[in-house]
Amino acid sequence: MTIYEINKDVIKYRFGNPICTHAVMKDGIEKKEKDLPFFQLEQGETIQLRYKMKVDDIVLGLGENQRGMNKRGGIYESFCSDDPLHTSDKKSLYGAHNFLMIEGTEKFGVFIDHPGKIIFDVGFTHKDYLEIRIDDHDVDIYMIKGNNLRKIVKNFLNLTGDGYVPPKWAFGYQQCRWSYKDANEVEKIADLFFKNDIPCDAIYLDIDYMEDFKDFTISEERFPNFKSFVEKMKQKGFRLIPIIDAGVKIEKDYDVYEEGVKNKYFCVDENEKPFVAAVWPGRVHFPDFLNPDVRRWFGLKYKNLIDCGIEGFWNDMNEPAIFYTDQGLKKAIKHAKESENENLDIYTFFSLKDTFVNLSNNIEDYKSFYHRLDGELVSHHKVHNLYGYNMTRAAAEGFREIDPNKRFLLFSRSSYIGMHRYSGIWTGDNHSWWEHILLNIKMMPSLNMCGFLYSGADTGGFNGDANAELIIRWSQFSLFTPLFRNHSAMGTRSQEPFAFDEESKNIIKNTIKLRYALIPYIYSEYMKAVINKDIYFSPLSFEYDDEMSKRVENQLLVGDSIMITPIYEENAKGRNVYLPEDMLLWKVENYNDRNYQVLKKGHMYLDVDFREIPIFIRKNKMLVLGKSANNVESIENDELHVIAFVTDQAKYSYYDDDGKSYDYKEGKYSEIVIEIEKKNEEYHIKIDPRGNKKVEKLHFEIIDREGKVTKRTINL
Ligand code: GLC
Repeated sequence: MTIYEINKDVIKYRFGNPICTHAVMKDGIEKKEKDLPFFQLEQGETIQLRYKMKVDDIVLGLGENQRGMNKRGGIYESFCSDDPLHTSDKKSLYGAHNFLMIEGTEKFGVFIDHPGKIIFDVGFTHKDYLEIRIDDHDVDIYMIKGNNLRKIVKNFLNLTGDGYVPPKWAFGYQQCRWSYKDANEVEKIADLFFKNDIPCDAIYLDIDYMEDFKDFTISEERFPNFKSFVEKMKQKGFRLIPIIDAGVKIEKDYDVYEEGVKNKYFCVDENEKPFVAAVWPGRVHFPDFLNPDVRRWFGLKYKNLIDCGIEGFWNDMNEPAIFYTDQGLKKAIKHAKESENENLDIYTFFSLKDTFVNLSNNIEDYKSFYHRLDGELVSHHKVHNLYGYNMTRAAAEGFREIDPNKRFLLFSRSSYIGMHRYSGIWTGDNHSWWEHILLNIKMMPSLNMCGFLYSGADTGGFNGDANAELIIRWSQFSLFTPLFRNHSAMGTRSQEPFAFDEESKNIIKNTIKLRYALIPYIYSEYMKAVINKDIYFSPLSFEYDDEMSKRVENQLLVGDSIMITPIYEENAKGRNVYLPEDMLLWKVENYNDRNYQVLKKGHMYLDVDFREIPIFIRKNKMLVLGKSANNVESIENDELHVIAFVTDQAKYSYYDDDGKSYDYKEGKYSEIVIEIEKKNEEYHIKIDPRGNKKVEKLHFEIIDREGKVTKRTINL
């Protein structure tokens, strides 16, 4: 074991000779140190770490995973998986996010930088032990210190580099479906948004826009004159976002296939022939994204679509998902033939059935192909968790080369720590189940802790049919998620905001309008999180150190000023809420209406009609609010409203920038620093507009402990 000090809070423990994942952006200085702290270490062919948890310890992190925010009691497997059934017994989803934190008698974070399989047994096998089992002897382990949870996360994010920033329009509402099958249908959907006066910024193109599911092609039949169609839709205020899949169709004369074969850009089998698997188009090859030349080649392919006016993409099936391989299928068919005239009993029938069920995403297939890493063949299985990450990195690096100072929308299904520098993620194929709203709520802060700020779930659920109430309640949560996209699977009931009855449509419309009115706050908080290496969604325990705040998993802090308490149960007319301090409640039906209520700290049951969205403004904090519009670019925020709950003094920094370039990295952004102080029953407001030329007026509503509202308008 070699030990490196990265900085005073982070030490790296290197075992063997690990593969470089590029998750961490910092080197350290070699150090003579003692042993790995906190953990009992077992080292051999594999590595195991063991930590005895105290009764009150909580374990946070692990990003995209099942179960609670507190991961205790579960067993999790880091192995990016295409699994469309997100039940709580599942050990892996699409991402591998190997960072967790212990909060209790000891406080620390640990990041296991390893691209293969890892088991995180968080008190599952033995309730008192956290065990981390790494399927290898080459690994980097980072131990991260910090006085509190936020500090530990910041120290971790500081290691892994600057977070991804999408264009500002990507904070608008987005509509997806598998699939809006042709240009007419896409246009019809856009027109329905317009006709119903529902804001929307983007409509998605799922796999059917392509010709035979071939990446970077467009079906001439379904989308004739694609470039002018993209332009026409943009004129109407909608951007189109095509999907790109990892597998490249094997088809003679298809340029991506031909070039890939010619240049040896595909992953290979044991005979060094391009590896064949099957996905949407049937047989495909997988680009070897771990190789920089391949990344550049694939990344520049996005130009075909960018030249047609496309400004955003979603990368999919990049675990990579495998439907079957020829070998697997052959074996299964042989098994079926042998079973043809048999009397199949409990064992033989299920064994036959499993042969077919296990055709997809089979571990043996992942073990049977290879990447070329620095001239050497490396088994895919060993580096599995880096695949989607590097596909997405390819795209992001391509965009940087194609149009260096332009921000593109990009998010991926599969991911690894460090991919947050290149894109966001969405949480894959969930269901139209109420418990998946709750899972969504719990997952967001865990993803943030691992760096993934631009994220969201398929609002309304992907698989299964949604009813109106589910869409309403889910949208009332998603309106706070940076990626706010409604998406559903082929064959399911339509779930666009106008797919239900008139009353439901109007409620969803008001919810989406609230989202647009909140964009000044959401964008400001998002950008400050990126710039300050901080998070956007936090558990209450990040700000409040009372015991109860550690236990609450169904309420979140969003940015610095607000707390949300979403409804995630069918037919619920309210819910239990915990206030760690006195807060101001704004129950929103329509964002232009104001009704405030000061609520005392403690537990309560809150009535929440299905038209209402409760927003809690924390003590001595403020919320900035703008106006809604058809889409983000047409919002006129020359006047902003500031809703402040002030008992003595509050400070807020409102951030804004051009929303489309990387100039913010050079400090080209504006801030309005607002300070409100209450002295002798008078409010003193100080405003420092640093470089903001857009906002001309601020309308204040300052609410005091008694609920008295003081209004003031200030010209800038
Ligand atoms: C995968 C994606 C889903 C998409 C579908 C078809 O299941 O997760 O979002 O709609 O493929 O492309």
